Amino acid sequence: MAERPYVLLSAAMSVDGYIDDATDQRLLLSDNADLDRVDEVRAGVDAILVGANTIRRDNPRLLVRSPARREQRVTRGLPESPIKVTVTSRGDLDPTAAFFTAGAVQKIVYAAGPAMGKIRERLTGVAMVSVVDAGDPLDLGVVLADLASRGVRRLMVEGGGTVHTRFLTAGLADELHLVIAPFFVGDPAAPRFVGAGTFPHDPGRRMELAEIRRIGDVVLLRYLLGGPTGTTGAHCSRPTRATTATAAGATG
Ligand SMILES: NC(=O)c1ccc[n+]([C@@H]2O[C@H](COP(=O)([O-])OP(=O)(O)OC[C@H]3O[C@@H](n4cnc5c(N)ncnc54)[C@H](OP(=O)(O)O)[C@@H]3O)[C@@H](O)[C@H]2O)c1
Repeated sequence: MAERPYVLLSAAMSVDGYIDDATDQRLLLSDNADLDRVDEVRAGVDAILVGANTIRRDNPRLLVRSPARREQRVTRGLPESPIKVTVTSRGDLDPTAAFFTAGAVQKIVYAAGPAMGKIRERLTGVAMVSVVDAGDPLDLGVVLADLASRGVRRLMVEGGGTVHTRFLTAGLADELHLVIAPFFVGDPAAPRFVGAGTFPHDPGRRMELAEIRRIGDVVLLRYLLGGPTGTTGAHCSRPTRATTATAAGATG
């Protein structure tokens, strides 16, 4: 298997599995304490990936918010915030989105081959951005190998559902941080945490529940997945049950 980063998936969902509702308003699933927890996880990774649709819908900044955590990163010789990463097949991304404009950090857009011309043109003049051909169709294995070659050892994936589904069904996730908010959405038009697919972890191969944490009225479940054949990200050591850093929820 090619070298790849340790991949940590992070999501917040309603009790019935929805990560948003179907309105134009952003659904708040986490509270401030949980957002601070997400910030801590962000501060501990080399790169953060979201799908192109999350950029279009939520317009997240994907920066470390805490000045103390940013300072600690700089002291360790790291940029204030992790590299921002996205994937797109169509190349339909707005260069004025906060993903591209917020923070003096590197951005990497992995595009399917046929979209390369379009996305390069759209992002002309955007600072600190690289556009990379990730195959046709876009291959997450190529994405991860390229990130590893750039020194990314730990990758946080903050959604949305399509991206989570792709990473999980491809067996490319090592850890899952799932926050459950105490309400129902109940609208089939709303996006779910994952869609249909063949997942390595079915009832015959259960994930390892590494941590349960109450944060206000939400609960964090932290699972360790391993790879489909028991492998994990080649660069990074697997965290222990005592690891306290966690992830996800509402991207911001
Ligand atoms: N609660 C949470 O934790 C949380 C976190 C983040 C997002 N969200 C919610 O999730 C929703 C968005 O989720 P989503 O499933 O619609 O979109 P998404 O996963 O954010 O992005 C999907 C898009 O990413 C690109 N993409 C993903 N995987 C790809 C692959 N393997 N190959 C090629 N392109 C790929 C495609 O972009 P193109 O269309 O450009 O080709 C695809 O349409 C929003 O409602 C957002 O609010 C919730």
